[in-house]
Amino acid sequence: MTEQPVKPRPAQADGWDRDLRLPEAAHIGKTAGIVEINLEAKIAEIEVVPGTRTRAWTYNGLLPGPLIRAKVGDRLIVNFTNHLPEETTVHWHGIRLPAAMDGVPVHSQKPVMPNGTFKYEFVLPDAGLFWYHPHVRSAGQVGDGLYGALMVEDPGEPAGLGDEVVMVLSDMSLDDAGTLLPADIGGEFGVLFGREGTYILVNGKVMPELRVVPGRRQRWRIVNAARTRYFRLDIAGQTFQRIGGDGGLLEAPVEQPYLVVTPGERLDVLIAPRGDVGSSVPMRWVAYDRGFGTTFMRPDVDMMTLKFVDGTAGVDSAVPAKLRTIAPLDITSARTQELRLTRATVKGRVVMGINGVPGAMAPPMKIKVGETQIWNVVNDVEFAHPFHLHGFFFQVLSWADAGDKLRPPPPLEWKDTADVPVKGRLTLAVRFEDRPGMWMFHCHILDHAEAGMMGMVQLDP
Ligand code: C2O
Ligand code: CU
Repeated sequence: MTEQPVKPRPAQADGWDRDLRLPEAAHIGKTAGIVEINLEAKIAEIEVVPGTRTRAWTYNGLLPGPLIRAKVGDRLIVNFTNHLPEETTVHWHGIRLPAAMDGVPVHSQKPVMPNGTFKYEFVLPDAGLFWYHPHVRSAGQVGDGLYGALMVEDPGEPAGLGDEVVMVLSDMSLDDAGTLLPADIGGEFGVLFGREGTYILVNGKVMPELRVVPGRRQRWRIVNAARTRYFRLDIAGQTFQRIGGDGGLLEAPVEQPYLVVTPGERLDVLIAPRGDVGSSVPMRWVAYDRGFGTTFMRPDVDMMTLKFVDGTAGVDSAVPAKLRTIAPLDITSARTQELRLTRATVKGRVVMGINGVPGAMAPPMKIKVGETQIWNVVNDVEFAHPFHLHGFFFQVLSWADAGDKLRPPPPLEWKDTADVPVKGRLTLAVRFEDRPGMWMFHCHILDHAEAGMMGMVQLDP
């Protein structure tokens, strides 16, 4: 840990993040290095759309679930109780934990039955924004509200990057009365496109307001917890500096005119909003072209208001040109495997798979602890797929659109979820360190995962 010079830290305006501040999970006990919390999955009646009541699926009665806050190296203990009417588990998306704590039914644990409990306990080895969600009937359970953010802080990272706000992006399918629509709405068509909710939510709210002071920097920690929806985020007249993603900070900030975050991914961005005090500007959802028909007749949707307010004087500290060192994985003796993302129609049903085989029928890929592999994930389908690997970070080596047209090289960063473009490919490198067991990979469009686009790694010592 290097010592940081004390810099003037700008204050935001009063109540600046009032609409967005997430309730945090209460820590039980005070043992240094241990964060212990209680987490209860239950149906709760809450207000999602103003003026209506929704019986949502929640953690601790909240949408999203409570923000879990810990420091890198802490041991997290979660006393989980299932008060849902069906079985569930909790998966800790992005955390490099032992396979037995990964929350995947059968392979990691038995599903937690109604009124059952499970104790999750593991060390948090990496700083970053992670998240948790069920791995049983995931599309339905996540779509109905089961997700929450897990922030792992690193006291050694550069200080004063900006006042922080965590944004859990999602959507929900509700009718006008606020009642959840059936999880399988739209039938096979819904499976093929993936199901996007009727309301876009930021921290469980429709159109919250965030107060900003002109020119004063904020740090937005964003996770996409939607079951299917990609978020392209645009704010007129603004630009972003992306400083991190799934597995913590980038090596250096990247300037971006807009942001894209696919289901499961995270972004760590700085924004110094430009505007006049008294004015407002919306953050808009813009349809991202994730394949056939996904942009057709889809107007932009305002999803959050930035309201410019007066602030006290202050100066932001400079953003360091170098945020972190990331060593490229050594791939000189890496074995290359091809994973084709495929789909078929079987007796009128959409069946997705990897190399033509739906997940439930595929034998696991056998890999040895310590191996580094290159995965060539090739997309044979007319839709894009956010590819997610449990338990290990990977580095993206290259990606290409249809016709193997290369996209600009991505910055070096640790990822656990990355987009595989329509009819394109994603080439990644991953080192399977010493955590043997069964590890899942799948499309994070959860409707696609459930239609079979998943597979397993059997990691042997
Ligand atoms: Cu968010 Cu199987 O994962
Ligand atoms: Cu998919």
